[in-house]
Amino acid sequence: MITINKSAVESYLEQNNESDPVCAYVYDLDHLKDHAQHLKESLPNFCELYYAVKANPAVQLLETLEPIVDGFEVASIGEINKVDELSEKPMLFGGPGKKDHEMIEAMQRNVDYINVESVHELNRMAYLADQAQVKIPILLRVNLSTNVSDSHIRMSGVPTQFGIDERDIRDVIDKALKYEQIEIKGFHFHAMSNNLDVDAHLRFVEMAIEKALTWRKHYDLEAPIIDIGGGIGINYWDTSDPFDWDALAEGLSAFEAKYIDETITLFLEIGRYMTAGCGSYVSEVLDVKTNHGEHFAVLRGGSHHLRLPAAWKMSHPFRIHSVEDWHYPFERPGILNSEVTVAGELCTPNDVLVRKEFVDQLRAGDIMVFEYAGAYGWTISHHDFLSHPHPEQVFVANNVVHKV
Ligand SMILES: Cc1ncc(COP(=O)(O)O)c(C=O)c1O
Repeated sequence: MITINKSAVESYLEQNNESDPVCAYVYDLDHLKDHAQHLKESLPNFCELYYAVKANPAVQLLETLEPIVDGFEVASIGEINKVDELSEKPMLFGGPGKKDHEMIEAMQRNVDYINVESVHELNRMAYLADQAQVKIPILLRVNLSTNVSDSHIRMSGVPTQFGIDERDIRDVIDKALKYEQIEIKGFHFHAMSNNLDVDAHLRFVEMAIEKALTWRKHYDLEAPIIDIGGGIGINYWDTSDPFDWDALAEGLSAFEAKYIDETITLFLEIGRYMTAGCGSYVSEVLDVKTNHGEHFAVLRGGSHHLRLPAAWKMSHPFRIHSVEDWHYPFERPGILNSEVTVAGELCTPNDVLVRKEFVDQLRAGDIMVFEYAGAYGWTISHHDFLSHPHPEQVFVANNVVHKV
């Protein structure tokens, strides 16, 4: 269970003396540390915990996670550079559309594994490795034939740009085995995003293990790594009913016992579930008004800072930090016991973070705190649309507030 430590946001607000309306991402690094430690400690020994940097590449988060995780999953030369500057732990380079120069730099840097997403990528990797006179340890990324989840974002089990079609995997293994510069270290199965169903996740993991073992046996491969990717979800719709991580960890322990005679290292590449809970997007209400009988609040901020609720057409979880000060000499707009739609400062009706949710009270000058905003928040958003100033990036550890 993820618990939100609210004091980081409150520490920031107490110390904030800016006259401009509040707009910030606030990260609670103590919360992140405790959460990551819990994830790591709960996993059985045959698991390795990687952090998927794309979920949030902020250096302060990477530094907090570095002593805890076993490695980092990276998807570009930018992410490789960030990790390389602060860690010697293994990196796994995945993702479609790898450029030649990225693969060359990955070979030269501290990258331990590279995912192969297609036959063409395999050919290019072997060619580049031959020129550099190095051997590349690879994981073959598989797009399974079977649908593995009801998650609304799926990368596998359905036609996507990701991985090698399971029907072609034997041909690709045949080819890879002929390349002296390529060493198959295992298989990669990242398949879904924001899955909330533990049983479905365990069924997926078991299927991945069985498939990998079949191919290993058929080709007499050592290939110990079975990478099940990330995809553990945040229940943005009902935060009181979170993904049951401990049940997942128990299920994985049962697999460790079941496959005790096999040499398996199970990689998890956790992104969203690692960092979502440590971050809050904090934004001041500029206006509250009624249009066509519906109430709207307008924020100093919006989907250009936190794109996720607009992209998923959902209400982002929030709480209201009430502010009693009101400095104008005229009435304060607000609503009581009503449904409200919370919009941003952009000139588009798509700039909505909360749709028709009930609030006891919301007034101009109050502050909305959008929780679970620490993953796929700031870096996936379209920051410069309308050229508003960016939010402050605030990192809180031991109640010390650090702004960058
Ligand atoms: C290959 C790979 N691994 C891991 C992740 C992290 O997934 P999540 O944030 O759902 O845990 C992603 C996300 O897109 C991914 O593409």
